[in-house]
Amino acid sequence: MTSVVAVLGSGGVGKTTLSAAIAADAARNGRRVLVLTVDPARRLAQALGVRLGNTPAAVASCPGLDAAMIDASESWEAIVHNHADPATAERLVANRFFRAVADRFPSGQAYAAAEEMTRHADSGVWDLVVVDTPPSGGGIDVLASPRRIRALVGGRALRWLTGPAIPGRRALYTVTARPALRLADAVVGGPLLEDVAEFLLDLRVTYDGISRRSRHVESTFKTAAIVLVTTADPAPMRETSRYFAELPDWASRPRAVVFNRALPEQWSTAGRGRGDALERNLERWGDEAHRQAEARGELSALYGVDPVIVPWMAEAPSTPSGLADLAAATGRLSAKELGFAQ
Ligand SMILES: Nc1ncnc2c1ncn2[C@@H]1O[C@H](COP(=O)(O)OP(=O)(O)OP(=O)(O)O)[C@@H](O)[C@H]1O
Ligand SMILES: [Mg+2]
Repeated sequence: MTSVVAVLGSGGVGKTTLSAAIAADAARNGRRVLVLTVDPARRLAQALGVRLGNTPAAVASCPGLDAAMIDASESWEAIVHNHADPATAERLVANRFFRAVADRFPSGQAYAAAEEMTRHADSGVWDLVVVDTPPSGGGIDVLASPRRIRALVGGRALRWLTGPAIPGRRALYTVTARPALRLADAVVGGPLLEDVAEFLLDLRVTYDGISRRSRHVESTFKTAAIVLVTTADPAPMRETSRYFAELPDWASRPRAVVFNRALPEQWSTAGRGRGDALERNLERWGDEAHRQAEARGELSALYGVDPVIVPWMAEAPSTPSGLADLAAATGRLSAKELGFAQ
């Protein structure tokens, strides 16, 4: 059976880097691994050899590792083609509101990552699928995306706007509402409302399929090992606390909470009691190291977590072997430590 690691956390904390690190380490230890990245930094994308697209390709410099860079638009096109008749699916794909949901709506992007995770986990091709998640929202929002998508597609607002799904509804709607929409569109300067109406009507058709599928996606999250990444900065710390406070009752506690870009704790006493500019600077770094240690201590006290510390590197690794070394150095991010037999 394929195991799944989902790497969550707020924007910029190192999710993409650590997803690649966990995956490279597992591949180096003989597992067949897929890493699904979201918008990696250019050097990392080059090292993994990934181009935007949901089809995994082998990473040349790392035997056993495949990688893909999630394309949310492509995922959503596949989703609607799976759950609507061809004509409706085509109309949806061409609709600009559909494109906005797929490309810009945070839950739309998050759900695309979750959908790809589920699809590849179900294929049984890999021992391990590691999924990186989009920056927007962060923390718990990725886990909530299947429910949010269900609410969007089948929610009360949509039913109210589109009426009961009776046969001929589209024709009825066209006759009664179109003149009003045309007038409104003339005022806003484009077929805006008509597009919205069309989008909502078409979206409703997909409800049963997307609803079933999103529950399956949720069940994949339930079995995944969650790796929650943070730094000691206030915004990621708030997200991390929110994760524990709002954890849906079905979701597992994170298998690991990673403090990334940590300064060495021994710096806490660096440069004390001296006076020149260089040493005052050292003192500031010392204060920052101290603050980081305190933030880790607070989180441990509040939620009983034993944080995994990943050091701040002068240059973040971007080769698969450098990334694997980073994961291995913590001693806590191997597939075995994350709960999967090696
Ligand atoms: N341990 C580290 N030491 C030094 N730099 C790091 C470390 N981890 C990550 N970085 C750097 O921090 C930046 C952000 O990392 P990354 O892209 O992995 O974060 P992310 O959480 O995926 O961001 P986003 O939310 O924007 O997707 C990158 O430039 C990366 O190289
Ligand atoms: Mg990222």
